[in-house]
Amino acid sequence: MGSSSFIRRLPKAELHLHLEGTVTPETLVELSARHSGPPLELAQARALYEYTDFTGFLMAFKAVSEHLRTPEDYEFVTWRMLERLARQGVVHAEVYVSVGVIYYWRRCEFEPLFLGMERARARAEAELGISLYWIFDAVRHFGPEEAARVFRKAAELRPQFPSIVGIGIGGDERRVGAEPFRELYAEARDAGLRLTAHAGETVGPESIWGAINIGAERLGHALSAVHDPELMDLLAERQIAVEICVTSNLRTGCCPRVEDHPLRRYFDSGLMVTLNSDDPALFQSDLEDEYCLARKGFGFTEEQLRELAANSIEASFLQAERKVTLLRRIESLE
Ligand code: HPA
Ligand code: ZN
Repeated sequence: MGSSSFIRRLPKAELHLHLEGTVTPETLVELSARHSGPPLELAQARALYEYTDFTGFLMAFKAVSEHLRTPEDYEFVTWRMLERLARQGVVHAEVYVSVGVIYYWRRCEFEPLFLGMERARARAEAELGISLYWIFDAVRHFGPEEAARVFRKAAELRPQFPSIVGIGIGGDERRVGAEPFRELYAEARDAGLRLTAHAGETVGPESIWGAINIGAERLGHALSAVHDPELMDLLAERQIAVEICVTSNLRTGCCPRVEDHPLRRYFDSGLMVTLNSDDPALFQSDLEDEYCLARKGFGFTEEQLRELAANSIEASFLQAERKVTLLRRIESLE
């Protein structure tokens, strides 16, 4: 068996994946044909995905999100995402949905869209055997009031929809740190939600300290932790999971060269490292590619890839029982 077959067969969880970032230009064209108004041409759709830096990437993400309109659109893109994940051997995904973008830019109700997403989730669980939890993501540079609407919606819907597992903040860390969200994070935790935060992607380790200080249990990217030995020790000691997205960091320019990426150093320092794809349609990669990159670009052995897969299950918000089942499957894979 070749290594890529091993990677595909390895049961894995994807913990840092944005629903909107899984939508390809081809899918946008298909969706637009169902909407009223002039249809989107493929070349026009592809142009939305072009960017040269992190700010441009955030704008591209927003432009793609704006083309998702109806509950049926959300159902369709959720189903497509889950089909692709299942093909890569992903058994569980925790998916960010940018509720903050929907509220702030689109000013529309989220529930009808969410019902579409839930239909696809339930169907994929029954037909493909893949589980999915939702993480409601706020855009940090829209400020705490907008984030409050996102997190409170998660808390309100969670009793009826246990698939809503947590909340997070994305967007531009250069403009807003984690501290303004402290009270909202405490409130979300009291409502039974798990806490994540993008941190240390575009700015230094102080942003990661900020996220930990407001209670983030998992850190998106955490690229700059490598510059702070004390922080590295803390991450290793407390086993705070880092959601590493190598291709994303290279494409957005947050990490200019693959040789500079701290993935290997994090793993060797005993951090709880997980591999993730972030926005596969914007970065032309997927989770299988990230594992291949770890092997080819960073020298991870099959046993170490197995450990990364096990980390993804351990760092997930799944119930202990399902974690044990999946970890056994990983251990016994030949
Ligand atoms: N960082 C910040 N904001 C985002 C990201 C990201 O990786 N993906 C989508 N929005
Ligand atoms: Zn992200």
